Amino acid sequence: MIFVMIIEVKNIDEMLGFGAKVGGLLNGGEIIELVGDVGAGKTTFVKGIAKAMGIDETVQSPSFTINRVYDAKNNIRLSHYDFYRLADAGIMAVELGEVLADPNTVKVIEWSNAVKDILPKDRLIINIDVTSNEARRLLISADGEASLKLMEKIR
Ligand SMILES: Nc1ncnc2c1ncn2[C@@H]1O[C@H](COP(=O)(O)OP(=O)(O)OP(=O)(O)O)[C@@H](O)[C@H]1O
Ligand SMILES: [Mg+2]
Repeated sequence: MIFVMIIEVKNIDEMLGFGAKVGGLLNGGEIIELVGDVGAGKTTFVKGIAKAMGIDETVQSPSFTINRVYDAKNNIRLSHYDFYRLADAGIMAVELGEVLADPNTVKVIEWSNAVKDILPKDRLIINIDVTSNEARRLLISADGEASLKLMEKIR
């Protein structure tokens, strides 16, 4: 059974704030897929997550490196992936496959096409729609125990 919820944010500050709310609920191990057009605000949302996880480093789009890993508080890490325009994730798919099972690493993935076969069904998927220049609608879905638990905390 898939559960969904919708969140509307009015501007970038609310997006950062919502990211921070989610980031504050993470214990490590969570898998969050971000879906949305270029400029929808996926990386902005990750910046909010990172802040709440106690990461001081500036979160940058990992587009050219595919993956950036940040040390967070409570001995957990944030691993941010972006497979934009990658038809084949190659060795990165193997790396992600290993990290997916790591209970101390939060995984956030943008442009997951190249790795969708290895992502578990039980992940939080956040679809971001641009509703105006500054407003965004987030459709959040969960299909599995861990993602549903996270969604309930967000709600
Ligand atoms: N409510 C909002 N939430 C997020 N970003 C917003 C919002 N309103 C305006 N913006 C702007 O939209 C842009 C979002 O960029 P961001 O890098 O987060 O997008 P992205 O979805 O990660 O894109 P890409 O697919 O290129 O990685 C930024 O320039 C930001 O300032
Ligand atoms: Mg991005």
